[in-house]
Amino acid sequence: MEIKPLKSFVKSVVPAPDKSITHRAIMFNSIAAGKAKISNALLGNDCISTIDCMRRLGAHIETDGDTVTVEGKEKLDSASLDVGNSGTTFRLLCGLLAGREGDFTLDGDSSIRSRPMKRVIEPLSAMGAELVGSEGGRAPVSIHGRKLHGISYKMPVASAQVKSAILLAGLSAEGITCVHEKIRSRNHTELMLKAMGAKIWIENYTVSVMKSKLNAVNVEVPGDISSAAYAMVLAAAKEGGVVTLKNVGINPTRAGIITVMKECGADITFSSVKNNAEKSADITVKYAQGLKPFSIGREIMPFLIDEIPALAVLACFIDGTSVISGAEELKVKETNRIDTTVGALKQMGADIEATDDGMIIRGGKGLKGGAVIDPKGDHRIAMALSVAAALSRDGAEILNPECAFVSYPGFYDLISE
Ligand code: S3P
Repeated sequence: MEIKPLKSFVKSVVPAPDKSITHRAIMFNSIAAGKAKISNALLGNDCISTIDCMRRLGAHIETDGDTVTVEGKEKLDSASLDVGNSGTTFRLLCGLLAGREGDFTLDGDSSIRSRPMKRVIEPLSAMGAELVGSEGGRAPVSIHGRKLHGISYKMPVASAQVKSAILLAGLSAEGITCVHEKIRSRNHTELMLKAMGAKIWIENYTVSVMKSKLNAVNVEVPGDISSAAYAMVLAAAKEGGVVTLKNVGINPTRAGIITVMKECGADITFSSVKNNAEKSADITVKYAQGLKPFSIGREIMPFLIDEIPALAVLACFIDGTSVISGAEELKVKETNRIDTTVGALKQMGADIEATDDGMIIRGGKGLKGGAVIDPKGDHRIAMALSVAAALSRDGAEILNPECAFVSYPGFYDLISE
C-alpha cells in the first residue's frame, strides 16, 4: 500500500474498540451464568479468534454488527483451539482452562509459536495444573484440566496476560490465589471479574482471588487508547493538526501515552468524561510547537508498552534526544519490536539506535520516507510506520498492510485524505 504524505490532519475519529476489554468480555462471559450483551465490541482478527475459541468450548455467541451476545457454559467442551495471532487469547485461556474438566490444546500462527509461554506454564503448574508445551515452553500447549490450589506468586515480569491467567485459574482453585506485582500492569481483568461477582480484592500491588462463580455482565467497550495513539501522534506532529478522538478508554493503567505526551508539552484535553468502571473520555490533541524530548523507563512501561512504536515515530519529530529504556518486553511481542521499530524507522531516514532494553532517538529532522516497509505481520508496526509515512516528506510503501486489522479494522481511513 502506497502511503502518501498528509497535507493536513484535522479530524474527528472514532478509534477501534478496546482489544483487551473485548477479549475479556467475551471470554469471561463464556464461563458465566446468564446472557450478556457486549456493545461496541472490537471485531478485529484477534477478538474473532477469541470468539471462535469460546464457541468451540461450547459457549453460545452471536454477533450483530458490533454487538456480541454471549451465553456462557460452566462445563466447557474439550477442544483443539487456534488463537491465530493473539497472545492475549492464548495466555488467558491457559489460565481459564487449567482448572476445568476436559482436554484442550492451544496453538496459533508462527508468531504465537515463537513467543514465551513458560511464563504462564510455570505458575499454573505450581497451582497443580497439567500443561505441556513444546520445546522451550512454546505453543502448542496441551492442557489436561485438573483440580488446582491457590498460590502466592511474585511476578517476574510485568505482564497483564500472565497476571490474568493466574487469576482466572484462581477462580477454580481451592484456597486463595495471590499475585504480587512489582510494577503494576493493566487491570481490566480485576475490574471485570469484580463486576461479575468474583471474590477478588486488591491491596497495594497484590491482587487476590478465591474460587468463584461468575454472573454475566453487559459490557460497553470504550475506544482503545492503543489504537487512538496513532491519531494522537499524527495530530501532535503535523503542523496545524487537530484531532478529537471519541469515547476512548482512559483507565490509568493504560494511559501512559497521555502522561508522556503531556510532559513533552503536547496540547491534550479531555471532554465528555464518563466515570464507569472503565473510565472513558473524548480526547482532543492539537499540534503544539516546540515539544520537548522524553525519557521513559521501566516504571511506566506497562502503561504504554503497545504505544512504543507510535511514540518512537513522534520522537523523530521532536528536537533533541528521546530515550526509551526498561522495555525488554518489546522483544517478545508479535515481533521483536525494538528491532522492527528501529529497523523500519532507520529506513525512513530516522536517527535512531536500538539498545538492550529500548531505543534512543535523535529527533527534530523529521522523516524522509521513500522506503518499502515490511511490518513482518506485526499490526502495531504496520500502523506506526504508516503514520511515519504519512508524516514523512516522500511517503512510503507498506507491505502486507492488512496485518493492521488484527486490532484496528478501519485503520487506513485515518490517513486517507
Ligand atoms: C495485554 C497485555 C499486554 C499487551 C497486549 C495486551 C492484555 O501484554 O502488550 O497487547 O490484554 O492483557 P503483556 O501481558 O505480555 O505485557
